[in-house]
Amino acid sequence: MAYSTITNLDTAAAQKHSHELRARLLSSSSDRYVTGPSGAGNGERVLVLGGTGYIGRALVPELARRGYRPAVLARDASVKDEVEFADAEVVAGDPTRTKDVEHSVAMAPTAVVISLLSGRRPNDAEECRSVDYDAVVNGIKASVANDVQQFIQISDFGAYRPELIPQVYKLQVEGELMGQHHGALPWTIVRPTAYYPYLSMTFGDVKNGLPYRIFDHGEYNVVNPIAREDLAEFITNQVLAPDAYGRVLPVGGPWAADNVVTLKDAGQMMFDITGREAEWDVVPMSTWDKKIARLTRIGKISKKVAPVAYYLEAAKYWSVVDHVAPAYGTRTLREFMEKLKDREFPTGSFRERMKNGTAVMPTDI
Ligand SMILES: NC(=O)c1ccc[n+]([C@@H]2O[C@H](COP(=O)([O-])OP(=O)(O)OC[C@H]3O[C@@H](n4cnc5c(N)ncnc54)[C@H](OP(=O)(O)O)[C@@H]3O)[C@@H](O)[C@H]2O)c1
Repeated sequence: MAYSTITNLDTAAAQKHSHELRARLLSSSSDRYVTGPSGAGNGERVLVLGGTGYIGRALVPELARRGYRPAVLARDASVKDEVEFADAEVVAGDPTRTKDVEHSVAMAPTAVVISLLSGRRPNDAEECRSVDYDAVVNGIKASVANDVQQFIQISDFGAYRPELIPQVYKLQVEGELMGQHHGALPWTIVRPTAYYPYLSMTFGDVKNGLPYRIFDHGEYNVVNPIAREDLAEFITNQVLAPDAYGRVLPVGGPWAADNVVTLKDAGQMMFDITGREAEWDVVPMSTWDKKIARLTRIGKISKKVAPVAYYLEAAKYWSVVDHVAPAYGTRTLREFMEKLKDREFPTGSFRERMKNGTAVMPTDI
């Protein structure tokens, strides 16, 4: 597995590119998608694999509201008691077990299968293989065997430049759907940009008085992240929609000043919202690169160090690769951060925060 190989960044040129790209987005409108619900169900069963995660908790209720009959394959069937699953059929089982997936598709006529599956530890290569690839292929094979009318794969906008382990598997699944490797199956691929919790991961640190870390000027890339409610509506629009078959649909949030950001812009938002004077922890990219190189070398002989090297690489990836896609929705990153304003966040060392990642972010907003 090749890790990130992004090197030789031209610092000044990258910053200029980010400024120009952001200005271009803010002075034009994205007209590829029309925001708003389109299409409604008539009780068709839609099975969501990975439906117990962050996006699933918005998608499952949206499917029910729009007239579909959502079903979720859940490792922890007690989610049935949670409000997001009140109108869903919860099937107990593990998506990494072929038989569980077959059963969840075959137990009732299933019109559509949607996969939101992704390993919860993106730095664990084995888990990524087992969830982002094997479990998704379980879903594809069961869909082929049971004449499912559409398989919707929630991929990742980053698959256009796959550097991180899950993105490589996402791209592999995309190719296998397009090439019909597992049999005839109508497909739709959705490639969302980043979700709000990822851009807000350090909100708690800023709220707790810590500086915000940027590489050099902090403006190597631009992203238009998307709210999960908007993404849920967008995905539901694709269900059994004739125009969606055989299409790869990149999607991000609105091209608005409060939603099109460099990482420094995201940090500035956190300072604005918490009422703090901006305080930057500026790390030279060259220093970070040396750290990555050293830990990657050690990681080749130490299983413990390899995931740490990966974290550093992932931090760099998210700081340098543009994630700009056609816009859908109305919600903005600033609105999301406003909702975080009054929450308490745990303090902790950098190492602990790296380990927890987005797990420290609330899942109820
Ligand atoms: N995060 C981003 O910014 C971003 C951007 C673009 C695309 N995406 C993609 O969008 C999709 C949805 O993201 P999300 O944030 O909703 O993901 P998430 O919250 O991490 O949820 C992942 C789902 O996969 C299941 N899963 C994880 N590990 C598993 C394992 N070992 N065995 C069986 N099931 C397992 C989880 O089940 P449990 O609840 O039982 O753990 C959960 O249902 C993913 O494919 C993700 O890669 C994410």
